[in-house]
Amino acid sequence: MTLHTRLTEILGIEHPIISAPMAFAAGGKLAAAVTAAGGLGLIGGGYGDADWLEREFAEARNARIGCGFITWSLAKRPELLELVLAHSPAAVMLSFGSPTPFASRIKGTGAKLICQVQNMEHTRAAVDVGADIIVAQGAEAGGHGLVRATFTLVPEIADYLATAAPAAALVAAGGIADGRGLAAALMLGADGALIGSRFWASAEALVHTAFQKAAIAADGDATTRTTVVDIVRKIGWPKPFTARVMKTRFVNEWHGREAELGEPALFEREMNRYLTAMQSGDPDNTGVWVGEATGLIHDVRPAADLLQKIVGDAEHVLGDKARSFVRGP
Ligand SMILES: Cc1cc2nc3c(=O)[nH]c(=O)nc-3n(C[C@H](O)[C@H](O)[C@H](O)COP(=O)(O)O)c2cc1C
Repeated sequence: MTLHTRLTEILGIEHPIISAPMAFAAGGKLAAAVTAAGGLGLIGGGYGDADWLEREFAEARNARIGCGFITWSLAKRPELLELVLAHSPAAVMLSFGSPTPFASRIKGTGAKLICQVQNMEHTRAAVDVGADIIVAQGAEAGGHGLVRATFTLVPEIADYLATAAPAAALVAAGGIADGRGLAAALMLGADGALIGSRFWASAEALVHTAFQKAAIAADGDATTRTTVVDIVRKIGWPKPFTARVMKTRFVNEWHGREAELGEPALFEREMNRYLTAMQSGDPDNTGVWVGEATGLIHDVRPAADLLQKIVGDAEHVLGDKARSFVRGP
């Protein structure tokens, strides 16, 4: 059995799964492993570090992968797009900002343009620039995002695309970590899933094992949306985006007291605390970047195992289990 969708067709992949371009966490090894397992792996271009990008493309050893950018950050360093395009990516994903300045350049190379959107306004902008693939990201997602939930955002966008851009594929993101999630996404009208948190807890992710352990020990109540993790890193995220992270001691201490971090000496101390703990793997004193799916993550496994299990379970749910609900001749 295989799951054949418009996403598998457009990308020429076996399974309708894309791994999220998670800043700092999704390097070349993870992207290549997801591609080798039949999905499409994306490197996390994040805030843009040319050396890091070159190193991670080298780690991917010419695997057919793509790369994702934080669009407002790319706008400050547009030359990074050329660096990535020189590696002939299968796809480039833009998220969090206007795709307009970059869309035609990306599409002109033959790479598929993926736009991650958080609401209908973003969706219309993605359609206007001719996105090949639109990722509907719900607020359950780990990392940055907005407030709409996956469960209503995906079908609403599916309905919109049916008339506005019938050739575009729709991918669901936010809270999908197992076969049930993938199956549900397909039933809501998506052509596949973009998965972050579950691959963050994989053997290939560039994530300290202490953070993965903290996420495994936590349930899905353990995350929140906040800006303190950006403020303390001096990263000027545009409003109204916030980040979903675990409610660590650091986050609990500062969430709601953001203004106090304006005091220079205190800011310096807390920034050092955050960055040192991020390096050393001390979850209490930093941000742990994972979504509500943390409650569905119980182990760290190779990305290929995760992908195969998700796809296998989705096939089962969509086949035998779905049929078991239907009665009558
Ligand atoms: C650790 C982490 C870092 C992320 N970094 C980025 C990023 O740099 N750019 C981006 O477009 N999305 C980023 N995201 C969001 C993902 O693209 C995706 O929407 C999300 O992971 C999907 O929800 P899930 O985490 O429940 O699977 C990140 C997510 C996580 C968990």
